[in-house]
Amino acid sequence: MTRFYYRLFHIGLILLAAPGAFSKRCRQYDGPPNAGFETGNLDGWEVTSGDAFGPNSVSDQQSYWDGPFHQDQKYFILGTAQSGETTVGELKSGSFKASSVMSFLIGGGYDPENLYIGLVRKSDGKLLLQQTGINDEAMIRVTWDTSKWCGEEVYIVIHDSSTSSSWGHINFDDLRVGSDALGNGKGLTFNTMGQANQPPAGSSQACSLFAKDPLRPQYHYTPYQGWINDPSGLVQWKGKHHLFSQNYPSAPLWGPMHWAHAESDDAVHWRELPIALYPRKTDIPGDTSGMFTGSAMVYEDDLYLVLTNFTDTNAHPGAVQETVIVADTKDGVRFDLYPNNPVVAGPPTSGSPFFRDPKVFRDPTDDSWKFVIGASTGQFGQVPLYQSANPFDWEHLGTLYTGDSSTDALWECPNFFPIGDKWVLIYGSNALGRYETGSYDGTTFTSEKRGFVDAGPASYATQWYKDESGRNLAISWMGNWPTPKWPSRTNGWAGHQSVTREFFIREDGGLGSRPIPELDSLATGRTKVLQRKRVGSDALSIGSNNNSARLKVTVDLAGTSALSFTLSLFQSRAESTLLTYNTKDQSMTLDTTNAGYGQPGKWVATIAKPANNKLTLDIFLDRSVVEIFVGDGTVFSANIWPRYKESTGISAVGNGGTVALDQISVTPLGSSWCG
Ligand SMILES: *[C@@H]1O[C@H](CO)[C@@H](O)[C@H](O)[C@H]1NC(C)=O
Ligand SMILES: *[C@@H]1O[C@H](CO)[C@@H](O)[C@H](O)[C@H]1NC(C)=O
Repeated sequence: MTRFYYRLFHIGLILLAAPGAFSKRCRQYDGPPNAGFETGNLDGWEVTSGDAFGPNSVSDQQSYWDGPFHQDQKYFILGTAQSGETTVGELKSGSFKASSVMSFLIGGGYDPENLYIGLVRKSDGKLLLQQTGINDEAMIRVTWDTSKWCGEEVYIVIHDSSTSSSWGHINFDDLRVGSDALGNGKGLTFNTMGQANQPPAGSSQACSLFAKDPLRPQYHYTPYQGWINDPSGLVQWKGKHHLFSQNYPSAPLWGPMHWAHAESDDAVHWRELPIALYPRKTDIPGDTSGMFTGSAMVYEDDLYLVLTNFTDTNAHPGAVQETVIVADTKDGVRFDLYPNNPVVAGPPTSGSPFFRDPKVFRDPTDDSWKFVIGASTGQFGQVPLYQSANPFDWEHLGTLYTGDSSTDALWECPNFFPIGDKWVLIYGSNALGRYETGSYDGTTFTSEKRGFVDAGPASYATQWYKDESGRNLAISWMGNWPTPKWPSRTNGWAGHQSVTREFFIREDGGLGSRPIPELDSLATGRTKVLQRKRVGSDALSIGSNNNSARLKVTVDLAGTSALSFTLSLFQSRAESTLLTYNTKDQSMTLDTTNAGYGQPGKWVATIAKPANNKLTLDIFLDRSVVEIFVGDGTVFSANIWPRYKESTGISAVGNGGTVALDQISVTPLGSSWCG
């Protein structure tokens, strides 16, 4: 289970009609005065209640703890600037006639009931539309179809009735109306977010509904609505791959954990099944108890889930925080909790209450069932080892492995498995997925090499499983829990899983990942191939990812004189994601500093020159997300969330010389929900 400390809201989502094509009939009217606060004050706006807003709300602050606010021009409304988080109040714009469409920048807390930008009709004071924040300070653009009220007198309210001391405020800027609302006026069109693109929970039309959401990955697993994190219970059972996800279906935020469930014939195309496990019923407000991460075990042909029962000890003082419980299914759809739970009543030592994410594996050293589980000595991460002849009678064998001061104090989501003559231990700590490879004697692990499961920012809680053909497959949650950047919250969902990967041992003894061949079946059209090219400082335009595509590049390092070369992805005139290889120090850098609404930063990995001098890249682009597989087994995963529809360009450039591109191919990919 991933640690989250967000405030919880048990409020359903407001479902509204999709804007579709914006009506062209409605003429364009002017918006309200001072719609972007560029006067530096509240001219044209009125504080109608409370003290949350006032003259100091208009701010020119540029950045906060996680990066820039992304205001338009200089000034914007910073919800905390007047009087902090907990105060309440409302700010109202001057009235104006509605055009067919409007858009604005919004940031601040997610609380649909208490924090929102509202569109109000002047004649009867009716609240026509509302949009809450996404639990991030940085602002993102939301677009509203207002054609229904074309020509009617309306105004905007910035509403804050939240007294919360965490995310109890809302930020706002740059209201645009009519055609100005759809783009930046310089040839770039905003991606349309909010109000729309919300398939109803339980809908079975993922294929067509998901396609409408410009941010939603098409071949990565996402929840219809609500939140997902850790992949859980991965297994191939009776031919079908099962993917469960830590899930809070009621809001796109972490909350009391359910297990979402999907199945697949090929580990690529998913079919949603009913929620497999629910948190226990509670009347205690704010009770976060739930079904945390766990794993699958096929025993006597039945599928068992061995997982963490998490109890919120604030709501239930004196309870054991984390125990191990079991559920099973006969039909692969309905799951029943074992009547004699828990199967392990708590951690083996009293050092720390953390005792989570049991991962069952078949141990070939003594042909028995074992599980590893995440724990802590209080000071260091630790992996206790358990053994049983069945899903129920687990016995503590001892400690498999203990970390040190370089690997953090608490470990989650451990996995332990052999590949060839090596054993691999992976675990999550402090928002990073780490691995160690080494040897194992049946009770203890000896580490030989350490590294990161993924070199990019958006990967955590990786779960491994062995499929029926004996491959070591894995799926990661494409999230990074400290970052608040989930712009898809405006569309009702947050969280997605990586594509299915295969693990292998790299030449240097580390853990490598590669995409499974079944992903080839996502191709929807002809592959465009560019033959050998030398590229210098004049960028080579490779094409467009057109939302979802696979890009393969082979670089001939022997024929490359450039000091470095850069592939630009999700590129438009306003933004791009840069992947740069430095031929001298053999470092590869993923740079998202100016790349959409995602987490900005630079992530670096060393990619040694391959013996044959051919550096290969296999890149999966999927609307908002990217997974970059390098030939040596390194993978970079990142969430980009492009701001503009035009941010789909792909190009290459050589810096300080030419880069020899042996072959480049772009294949359009389709949805994993269709067919
Ligand atoms: C989870 O643990 C709590 C506290 O010990 C207990 O009351 C509850 O019944 C457990 N749930 C299951 C499914 O075993
Ligand atoms: C881009 O994708 C859409 C939807 O998949 C398709 O209709 C369109 O033809 C594609 N455009 C190009 C230029 O390939």
